[in-house]
Amino acid sequence: MANDQEKEAAALASLSFIRDGNIVGLGTGSTAAYAVRLLGERVKAGLAIRGIPTSSQTRDLASSLGIPLTTFEEVQHIDVTIDGADEFDPQLCLIKGGGGALLREKIVASASSQLVIVTDSSKQVAVLGKFPVPIEVITFAQPLVKKEMEALGATVSVRQLPTGGPFITDEGHHILDCHFGQIPDPASLARKLSDTPGIVEHGLFINMASVVILAHDGKITQLHRP
Ligand code: A5P
Repeated sequence: MANDQEKEAAALASLSFIRDGNIVGLGTGSTAAYAVRLLGERVKAGLAIRGIPTSSQTRDLASSLGIPLTTFEEVQHIDVTIDGADEFDPQLCLIKGGGGALLREKIVASASSQLVIVTDSSKQVAVLGKFPVPIEVITFAQPLVKKEMEALGATVSVRQLPTGGPFITDEGHHILDCHFGQIPDPASLARKLSDTPGIVEHGLFINMASVVILAHDGKITQLHRP
């Protein structure tokens, strides 16, 4: 099964977690976009949900599909969030933020009763760390944070736009992509990152995913957090 078909199959399976009347967190990235498009079809067919998007990109997609949106001004609790991941390990620790939306993604995930992660088979790893950990930083502190990440053993690069210049997040920050290599204890690294002044948020999602829906070889597997 090609990756795109796997992504779509995982996204389709995730819709079984959505109930009429739910507030739904709408993830960012190519896999989450399949879920948003499929939700759009269900909404057209009569499903009553309100979505909270995790990025301006997803907000635009959801609006174009006629999915009603809401905000944290109106609701402070999300029933289910459907989102993608860049990597997940057997404990369902995640690396997220390849699309640059990790800050809003983590806020939305933390307000959700269930975080449903949809992935193709390429995201499953025994140990996190092949994918760099995206770290959203306050620009003022960027050189300090870069140095601290290097002291922790990371190779660091400032994420660039394909057109040149640094990538800017929806909240106006830069992203440092930090290659730590294998991360045997993601929870401990996550604590260190959270304790570093100047880091707004990082892409390690520990104890947040309720379930990973993985599509591979025409089969759907649901992995629940141990
Ligand atoms: C967006 O910031 C990310 O967290 C995405 O969820 C992640 O990068 C997965 O994206 P794809 O589904 O496009 O691989």
